[in-house]
Amino acid sequence: MSAHHGGGQHGGGELSGTFDSDKVMGKVYDSRVAGRLIKYLGPVKSNLSLGAGGMILRSVTTVAVPFLVGIAMDRIIEGDLVGRNTMVLIVAAVIMVGWGGRYLEELFLGFVGQKILYRVRTQMFDHLQKLSLGFFDRNKVGRIMSRVQNDVQQIQELLASGMLNVLFSAVTLIAIAIIMLVVNTDLALLTLTVVPALAIVAFIWQKYARRAFIRVRRAIATVNAQLQEGIAGVRVTQSLTREDVNAEQFESVNREHFTANVEAARLQAAMWPMVEILTAVGTALVIYFGGAQVLAGQMTIGALVAFMLYVRRFFEPVLELTMEYVEIQRAMASGARIFELLDVEPEITDDPAAPDLPPAKEIKFEGVSFGYSPGTRGLHDINLTVNPGETVAIVGKTGAGKSSLANLITRFYEVQEGWVTVDGYDVNSVTQQSLRRQIGVVTQDPFLFFGSIEDNIRYGRTEATREEVIEAAKKAGAHDFISRLERGYETQVGERGENLSAGQRQLVCLARAILANPPIIVLDEATSNVDTHAERVMQRSFRRLMKGRTCLIIAHRLSTVTRADRIVVLDQGRIVEIGSHRELMARKGMYYNMYGSLLAPGPEPQSA
Ligand SMILES: Nc1ncnc2c1ncn2[C@@H]1O[C@H](COP(=O)(O)OP(=O)(O)O)[C@@H](O)[C@H]1O
Ligand SMILES: [Mg+2]
Repeated sequence: MSAHHGGGQHGGGELSGTFDSDKVMGKVYDSRVAGRLIKYLGPVKSNLSLGAGGMILRSVTTVAVPFLVGIAMDRIIEGDLVGRNTMVLIVAAVIMVGWGGRYLEELFLGFVGQKILYRVRTQMFDHLQKLSLGFFDRNKVGRIMSRVQNDVQQIQELLASGMLNVLFSAVTLIAIAIIMLVVNTDLALLTLTVVPALAIVAFIWQKYARRAFIRVRRAIATVNAQLQEGIAGVRVTQSLTREDVNAEQFESVNREHFTANVEAARLQAAMWPMVEILTAVGTALVIYFGGAQVLAGQMTIGALVAFMLYVRRFFEPVLELTMEYVEIQRAMASGARIFELLDVEPEITDDPAAPDLPPAKEIKFEGVSFGYSPGTRGLHDINLTVNPGETVAIVGKTGAGKSSLANLITRFYEVQEGWVTVDGYDVNSVTQQSLRRQIGVVTQDPFLFFGSIEDNIRYGRTEATREEVIEAAKKAGAHDFISRLERGYETQVGERGENLSAGQRQLVCLARAILANPPIIVLDEATSNVDTHAERVMQRSFRRLMKGRTCLIIAHRLSTVTRADRIVVLDQGRIVEIGSHRELMARKGMYYNMYGSLLAPGPEPQSA
């Protein structure tokens, strides 16, 4: 019993398993995040280099064209037709090379992007599957989904194109500056004065733009959350006729989404005229001073034309650089959030030396106290032994702690005090897999995965044959209704699948548990949501299922409870009575008082 974990085993430190999206915002360059992001590029190095090579090729050819066009102009003015033709061919060749560069760039960077997406998604999925239930109690599914979708997309964009756009813009800018300085230093210095002006404008603009973008993103998240909830809860909404209230609420978040986007568009719109004005100023400077130099014979017309073309090309990279600045900020925040999620350690972990639990039969609670969060106590000092082959029923009011007790056997949560043992093995000391493989759990809300009924029954034992699946379905009492379905065991269920009734779904889940053939069975109000017909079928299956197994049954039906070997009455997290039906009735205690309220409809005496 040494494998008892101390408290505070959450790996996330301050996070303690929760994570908050809005806290991590802003830092442009977080070296820790950047370092981890860069690691994703390792396996795609060669593709990345080829893509980057293509990009540099494109950048250089883009810059070369105006220069070459300028030379062609001079040849024409000189009347050198052969020279003109040569220049036309050279320009054509350069453009072809640029085209090839672009092809390499798109091809390899596309590959890099997809590869990164693929890896991060796989990591997230694997990681999320391992996290303990407590994590999912604390974090909303919608929040987690937005991590997996939006944030992954964001860092993929940064790694696959954002970084290289920065590279492209920087190379272009520097190449243009060099060519201009070489061709005509004075005019180049004069023209370059526009660049800082533009950079300042762009920088100020991006500050506002960033705020607007954050607002847009928040608004999108809210709208999506509302939509999701609206769809998930549509049954409740309609039955309570709350459509109008919801519509009003949605109207307000939708309006915020609208105004946030309009605001962002306004900022975007304001940017372009400023760029145009500065471009015009640059062009004017070139024409005014360059024109004078041409007239003075210090500069060719071709060089002047090249300069004018360069002025136009100047602003794109400057703008691109400031825009990417915003993108990088966002991607860093996304990266930080993704890593935060990936860093959440499962609270419940196997001891490295944990042995597998051999086939087991006896469940024992010794002095168990438990609460879902530190400091709270839902169960107090539970002492209970379920002997091999025994069926123990647990009864108690809603919230008494019945399900919590069941959750401790499978170690979905860990006890704070005492021990839960199975055949003398502390559940904390054996591997979770071996423990859970021996305990079949059927709860009140049956979950079917997307796929066929057969897949669903086979879920816990994928190697089972068709015959074994049918055998299990027969034992569960599910075979009759399944064979009556048009497509039988092939019927698609789960999300978007054919709808089964609650009772039918529960029978499929029961078949799933039976197929796994565990020596210990836990039924947690398994029949509470099903109709009387399904319940009768299930009661019969239960009796077959319980034979030779150790069973813990949480029930509210009299017929199930009275048949149990022993009954445990739980109240406010404490065991208040233990005994057989007869003993407890004789005691005239809590069970006796509850007896009237336990639901009576049993399986047999129905006058159908
Ligand atoms: N996942 C959870 N996180 C936090 N508290 C919980 C969780 N599940 C149940 N509780 C609380 O623990 C207590 C016992 O719940 P539970 O064991 O589900 O009762 P029962 O199954 O008898 O209705 C209740 O007060 C309930 O609010
Ligand atoms: Mg319960």
